[in-house]
Amino acid sequence: MSKNTITIINNRDGKTYEFNILDATVGPSVVDISSFYKETGMFTYDEGYTSTASCQSKITYIDGDAGQLMYRGYDISFMAKEKSFLDTAYLLIYGELPSQDELTDFKLEMQKRSFVHEGIKKLFDSFPDGAHPMAILSAGVSALATFYFKHLEITTAAEYQEMANRIVAKIPTLAAFSYRYSNGLPIIYPDLNKGFTENFLNMLRAYPHEYVELKDVEIKALDTIFTLHADHEQNASTTAVRNLASTMAHPYAAISAGIGALWGRSHGGANESVIRQLEMIGSVDRVDEFIGKAKDKDDPFRLMGFGHRVYKNFDPRATILKEIRNELMEELGISSELVEVANKIEQIALSDEYFVSRGLYPNIDFYSGLILQALKIPKEMFAVVFVIGRTPGWIAQWSELRQQKSIKIARPRQLYVGSSERTPNT
Ligand code: CMC
Repeated sequence: MSKNTITIINNRDGKTYEFNILDATVGPSVVDISSFYKETGMFTYDEGYTSTASCQSKITYIDGDAGQLMYRGYDISFMAKEKSFLDTAYLLIYGELPSQDELTDFKLEMQKRSFVHEGIKKLFDSFPDGAHPMAILSAGVSALATFYFKHLEITTAAEYQEMANRIVAKIPTLAAFSYRYSNGLPIIYPDLNKGFTENFLNMLRAYPHEYVELKDVEIKALDTIFTLHADHEQNASTTAVRNLASTMAHPYAAISAGIGALWGRSHGGANESVIRQLEMIGSVDRVDEFIGKAKDKDDPFRLMGFGHRVYKNFDPRATILKEIRNELMEELGISSELVEVANKIEQIALSDEYFVSRGLYPNIDFYSGLILQALKIPKEMFAVVFVIGRTPGWIAQWSELRQQKSIKIARPRQLYVGSSERTPNT
């Protein structure tokens, strides 16, 4: 057997098969099983894709055991502490960090493209009061495909960039509008004098007659949340986006599908669930009862904001957010029963055998939920904030797949366990 292959023996008939091993630049190698069915007549089975690499990518690297995350080779801690969200978006989309001039041009591009067609207002107006902003946002992004249908067929680098810049610039506006319409509030248009993150907070919080003071510490905290959410290799929503890309669907339809996948409470909906759960627990005295429920095998209750499919030691994004949460709480002078409940849960989970032995540490959503609440962002907007951060990653992943020389439609098979052919009653 050569070094770069793996041999599989079928113990049923003694036949052996050899498959190539492909090496990564960093991290685990993969076994190329694309010919597995042709050679063995069997499919491979991996529910939830825990051992499956679904694509080759140059965008993001995660080492779950070491708690490492890199965007195009740059460590997340460097990106979060030294760079802005727009630097990050540029890096993900264009492949390199921007120079000062490139960043200035990118900022202008974001401002120029931040307005949405007035027709979107009619669409949003038709949704019932109290509609969840994630549902409105998903519909709004999908509707962008009607205004920019030409992005269905993209061939040049300039066209990719125009399509990517357009969606990243418009997402905060659609996100803020989705909240304002959901609550029957007057919409606030983008302000060309404000930066990307400040502009979003302003569109969310301001009133036509009222000046809203936004503190630098608030803008920085939200900007960092966007940066930390910007990409996370082949997570559930990115996989949804790539699946749509593989069918040659419109990029904005793919982003809308990503929003749908992200909404679930096992994924981006977790930060909203964290706060709802803390509110349900209500007081420090009840924490032990809920920790008991989380540990009980017969109880479906899970502690929201704990655990991660990939990070089994710590989530590097959570480490950064924990610092920001502490700073923010101090600067804004926030203390509440809810924060105390959160602190107690965190303390227990970090030392309790059940959580430690399963690698269930506080994840990004645990801290982002608390920070977003301190920023006076309503709970139903938490996942929407995640969408704003993740959009550059999604669009970079969409573009990477679509620029491959050959594109294979994502079409898994299954282990069929239904009935064999039945004879119809005559
Ligand atoms: N509370 C209590 N027990 C848990 C939890 C939790 N939050 N998460 C996992 N477990 C237990 C689970 O019961 C199982 O126990 P056992 O081995 O005894 O059967 C073990 O830990 C492994 O769980 P799993 O479901 O096989 O793990 P997974 O890697 O498939 O799931 C997860 C990862 C994030 C979906 C899960 O940990 C979870 O549901 N967490 C709560 C929701 C959450 O915070 N989601 C945000 C994830 S981070 C942001 C993002 O990527 O979107």
